[in-house]
Amino acid sequence: MDFGMKFKRTHNCGALRALDTGSEVVLAGWVDSNRDHGGLVFIDLRDREGITQLVFDPALSEDAHAEAATLRSEFVIAAKGQVVPRSQETVNSKIGTGEIEVRVSELQVLNPSRTPPFQVGDSLGISEDLRLRYRYLDLRSPRMQSNLRFRHTVTKAARDFLDKKGLLEVETPYLLKSTPEGARDYIVPSRIYPGQCFALPQSPQMLKQILMIAGCDRYYQIARCFRDEDLRADRQPEFTQIDLEMSFVDLDDVLSITEGMMAAIFQTAGIQEPELPLPRISYSEALERFGTDKPDQRFALELKNISDLAGQAEFKVFSEVVSSGGVVKGLAVPGGASFSRMEIDTLIASSQKFGAKGMAWFKVSSQGLESNLTKYFAPEILARIQERLAGKPGDLLIFIADRPGLANDVLARLRTQLAEQLNLIPQNTRHLSWVVNFPLFKRNEEQRRWDSEHHPFTAPHPEDIPGLDTDPGGVRSLSYDLVLNGAEIASGSIRIHQPGLQSRIFKLIGISEEEARLKFGFLIEALALGAPPHGGIAIGLDRLVMLLREENTIRDTIAFPKTQRTQDLLTGAPGPIGPEQLKELDLKVAESRV
Ligand code: AMO
Repeated sequence: MDFGMKFKRTHNCGALRALDTGSEVVLAGWVDSNRDHGGLVFIDLRDREGITQLVFDPALSEDAHAEAATLRSEFVIAAKGQVVPRSQETVNSKIGTGEIEVRVSELQVLNPSRTPPFQVGDSLGISEDLRLRYRYLDLRSPRMQSNLRFRHTVTKAARDFLDKKGLLEVETPYLLKSTPEGARDYIVPSRIYPGQCFALPQSPQMLKQILMIAGCDRYYQIARCFRDEDLRADRQPEFTQIDLEMSFVDLDDVLSITEGMMAAIFQTAGIQEPELPLPRISYSEALERFGTDKPDQRFALELKNISDLAGQAEFKVFSEVVSSGGVVKGLAVPGGASFSRMEIDTLIASSQKFGAKGMAWFKVSSQGLESNLTKYFAPEILARIQERLAGKPGDLLIFIADRPGLANDVLARLRTQLAEQLNLIPQNTRHLSWVVNFPLFKRNEEQRRWDSEHHPFTAPHPEDIPGLDTDPGGVRSLSYDLVLNGAEIASGSIRIHQPGLQSRIFKLIGISEEEARLKFGFLIEALALGAPPHGGIAIGLDRLVMLLREENTIRDTIAFPKTQRTQDLLTGAPGPIGPEQLKELDLKVAESRV
């Protein structure tokens, strides 16, 4: 092996076609496979763009042939040769370069490789920890390369669109003060000010508002956010938002620019564009009809409220729940009347796993509803229940009686489970819709106070401002979420731009004047120095890419993600820091952890 490249690469491994027959070319890349067939050696050479078959014939070059036989997976090589057509029987229609091969006259091994811990491209059978530990091998696979490229395409489409709309890309700092988005902060100790810390931003929220006050007018950023929270398949501790904010806008303006951007992203990514404007439903309607504020609307299975009818039944489980302020809601499972007793028991077990005390059910036959519960209901009530749920003979009607929040939550999960079980979710469909009119506050029962539903900078609905003191729970906000196939992919709001109202909201969520001054004083001050009305939104880029690629985890859309336990297995972070650094930072940590 010698240093430097003897030949200059002329093509990538996905480029050559039958039309290139006869050309002298140089390819470079990784050995994907090596086969020895009756004196000829065949190497599949891989790079980011594809795979090309190289043929080593001793009649053309004995040296190259001999060396080719020694090549193993992941060796890095360069090969010079002539493009020749493959014989009819060896054409590979599965790859773009399948009509040709390159007859190699000269070979240079640029770097050998140790036996890799797993075969590149074979990610399905191997543990994710191993893939993350050797991320560079994992990323060499066509699937991961194509995910990286797809993410690039989405980001570029967003940038191009926002640029056209006059939004300015501005970077905001990572070393900052705490930004409240509902998670724990990542903290960076200051060396110069011992005992004091920066917090990594949970989002650029306050700074993008400051940019509006600064006269920036329209801003966007492909922004990294840091949140120390419990991870799930669609969450990472550091993730990326397409973050934007605009001045002198109302809710319709923000929704409309976001819709335009989504259409541009879909178009660039070769996905059927959504019809615009996107449908909007209110938060309360979403909960009523689907039991969740992020409904998957690719399928129906809508929930129906039968509390009024259940309240009239002799069935105590129903009537007592209703009289104590609870609800009885249910849905019709198409074809569910054919479920066996065991299948129904499994559904009941799921409802209990999701938190319900139990699940009531009726089968619908041509005679009406059937179950061991019918005796507790007058026939006309049963008929009205069936009518309310539009139950057809052959359906199964299922009901949960509980507090509204719990009944909704359990039914929303049963709805998804049943849709999967009954194959009701259409493939290759992307359903985008808005959920609007969220409540401004949510009740924190543990702390006995109101918390912001979105974040504390969200403007209340102007019609509901009088209710701020009398009925905080009933105040709607000017916020909105964008939902794609049942997942929240974006969230935003029109902001409060008057310092008085902002201070009032802080007080309502239990932040004292002193605390507000310490944490958000700069924002309140800026609001009093000429703040334009403004609003914006942030799209979760990783999550969007995951859903558009139909990947199961957000980690497969990020080049270097953390594990579910917030570790970076490639570099071994987090790791201990040495005594010198600790001393400089004036920090003490538990001995065992250093
Ligand atoms: P929010 O906190 O709702 O709003 O975040 C916006 C979007 O970011 C994505 N997201 C995440 N993606 C991956 N991992 C996470 N841990 C994670 N957390 C959130 C979601 C979510 O919809 N400043 C506001 C936006 C605004 O008001 O303009 C904000 O950050 O897709």
